[in-house]
Formats: sequence, structure tokens, C-alpha cells
Amino acid sequence: MPLPEIPSPAIKRYLVLGGTGFVGRALCERLFERDAGASLVVPTRRAAHANAVRPLPTVQPVLANVHDDAQLARLVAGCDAVVNLVAILHGSAAEFERVHVALPRRLARACAQAGVRRLVHVSALGVGPGAPSHYLRSKTEGEAVLQAALQAGGPAPTLLRPSVIFGAEDRFMNVFARLQAVAPVLPLTGGDARFQPVWVGDVAQAIVAALEREDAPGRVYECAGPAVYTLSELVYLAGRWSGHERPQLRLPLALGRAQAALMELLPGEPLMSRDNLDSMRVPNVASGTLPGLSALGIEPTALEAVAPAYLGAQFARARLGRWRAQAGRE
Ligand SMILES: NC(=O)c1ccc[n+]([C@@H]2O[C@H](COP(=O)([O-])OP(=O)(O)OC[C@H]3O[C@@H](n4cnc5c(N)ncnc54)[C@H](OP(=O)(O)O)[C@@H]3O)[C@@H](O)[C@H]2O)c1
Repeated sequence: MPLPEIPSPAIKRYLVLGGTGFVGRALCERLFERDAGASLVVPTRRAAHANAVRPLPTVQPVLANVHDDAQLARLVAGCDAVVNLVAILHGSAAEFERVHVALPRRLARACAQAGVRRLVHVSALGVGPGAPSHYLRSKTEGEAVLQAALQAGGPAPTLLRPSVIFGAEDRFMNVFARLQAVAPVLPLTGGDARFQPVWVGDVAQAIVAALEREDAPGRVYECAGPAVYTLSELVYLAGRWSGHERPQLRLPLALGRAQAALMELLPGEPLMSRDNLDSMRVPNVASGTLPGLSALGIEPTALEAVAPAYLGAQFARARLGRWRAQAGRE
């Protein structure tokens, strides 16, 4: 589906907060393909995190602390458009507040002061009154502060709410596939939770469309794929497509929470936290009452069209490595 024409005056300088992440990398590629003459400023906390986007000639990685007002103002200065993709999945209530609420508030202020024309903020499906987790409550508040900032002269934000996002580098289908490659049985809590997975390429394209369409500022779009699956079905598909389909052991919620609490104690990002389980208490599917990808001119890509290739390829490579090792070729 073709994107709309680049509006006039065209955006010549973008700030992409979170541009080094999963969605950010896909977005930087799209923006480069769209206009190789526009510059993309991508702040990062660690230079190495920008390695994947550094080869794009229009990307300028900048080591910066986006939580510092002065540094944020310098990043925003001279930009026509800003995209906010910064988010965390795990953390304390204070960390969620700092990243999902305080940052959007300060960003809106900086955008108003710098005269930024377009602001696109990526939120999540499941936000709303009574959201059941720290993640979703803070995302809900983040949307509200951006909308409120409009009264103070900020740009009208476009809010995108994706369901879970899949793609070659996702941390969803890939994780379920990897777990099944090593475990004989997969313990699972919340297997009936519903998701409407959306392809990372479609989310990136939605952001580009939201930046360019004249009717997007001030609107909220739900980004969801063409089909709804339960968590259990997604785990099954990840196992099947990666060649490691395992039986699932349904855990009652109390046991699942205990398992998640243990995972939170391990070093690094937990595979699952109690807050993640809380998020799954609301369906991660489009409400149908808000515009979706089709309103941005995008026909959503099916999970079946993309995931079997990357899950299968990854495990074919692993199997080849094992075969070579056994054959004494390495
Ligand atoms: N992935 C999904 O399935 C999914 C589903 C629904 C909604 N979303 C939303 O989509 C957006 C993009 O998600 P993603 O999957 O691309 O995320 P991601 O891969 O985790 O990337 C997050 C980015 O945020 C930056 N970041 C993380 N913590 C930060 C902190 N404390 N301070 C400053 N910067 C920080 C990181 O930059 P550096 O490390 O370079 O500093 C990274 O570039 C987020 O708003 C997310 O909530 C994602």
C-alpha cells in the first residue's frame, strides 16, 4: 500500500527517542528509505546500542541522557518532528513513572519551546482507566500528559497503541521458540490471554504515515494485526515454526506469580514479571472503536506470512552449527 505524498514543507530533521530499539531500528530504516536527505538524530545511553542504526548514512547517534532537561532541549532544537519510542517493560513504580510519564511531560514541554511541528508517541494497547499493571497505568498517564501539554502550546501528539509486535528480532515469538528448544515442557500462566500481534514493519510504516498525514495530529490509532490468538496458541506456533514444539504445562495464577517473582530476582531482564502477568489481565486486542492501521493506509501483515521464516531460519542455523560440530568440521 503506497504511503501518502510527503507533505510540504517536508520534515528535514527528526529526533527519534528510543531509535536504537526493536521498533526504532525498523523506523530509522523506513525514514531513510523515505527521504535520504533528512537527518535522524538518535540519542542513546550507550554508544554500542546504536551499532545497528549507525550504518544508515542519515542517522546521527548521540550519547545523551534524555531525562536531563538541558540535554533534551539541545536534542529537540532544530527538529521538525519527534518520535518517542522510549519504554521499559520491567521496573519499579518509580522507574515506570520516570520513563513513561515524566519523560513525555518534559518532551512535550521541550517540543513546545522548540516549535516542533509533529510529535508521534508510541503507547500500547490495553491502556485506559483501571489498567491492571504498573506498565499500563504509566503508559495511560503518559498519553494523558501529552494530550494535556497541547493546552500549553505543544504539538498535537499522534498516539499509536500497538498490540505485541513481532519481527525477526522480537522478544516474544523468539523467546517462546528458544525456551522450547531447551525445555522438554513449557510451563505457562495466562495461556488464555488474547493478543493481536502486529508486524514491526507495519508499526514503523504507521509511524511514518502518522508523521506525514495532515489528519494524524491529535488522533489515537490502534496498531493490530489481522488475527487474534491466545498466548497458548502463540507459544504453540513459535514451537511449531522453529521445529521445537513442546507440550505446555498450564500453571495456576498463584504458581505463575511465584515463578515470575523468582525470575525477577535473577540478574538481567526477567523473562516474565508479575507486572507482565497483570498486564495480560486485559485483552491485548484492538477495541474497534478507534481508527486502526487501515486508517493510515496500511494493510496489516499476517503473523503466518513472516514469523515461520525467521523462526525457522534461526533454528536451521543452530542445527547446522550442531551438525558441523558433531561432524568435526569446526
Ligand atoms: N515490542 C513490543 O512488543 C511492543 C508492544 C506494544 C508497545 N510497544 C511500545 O513500542 C515502543 C518501542 O518498543 P521497542 O520494543 O522498540 O522497545 P525496545 O526495543 O526495548 O527499545 C527501547 C528503547 O528505549 C531506550 N530506553 C530504554 N530504557 C530507557 C531509559 N530508562 N532511559 C532512556 N532510554 C531508554 C533504549 O535506548 P538505549 O538503550 O539506546 O539508550 C531503546 O532504544 C515502546 O513505547 C513500547 O512500549 C512495544
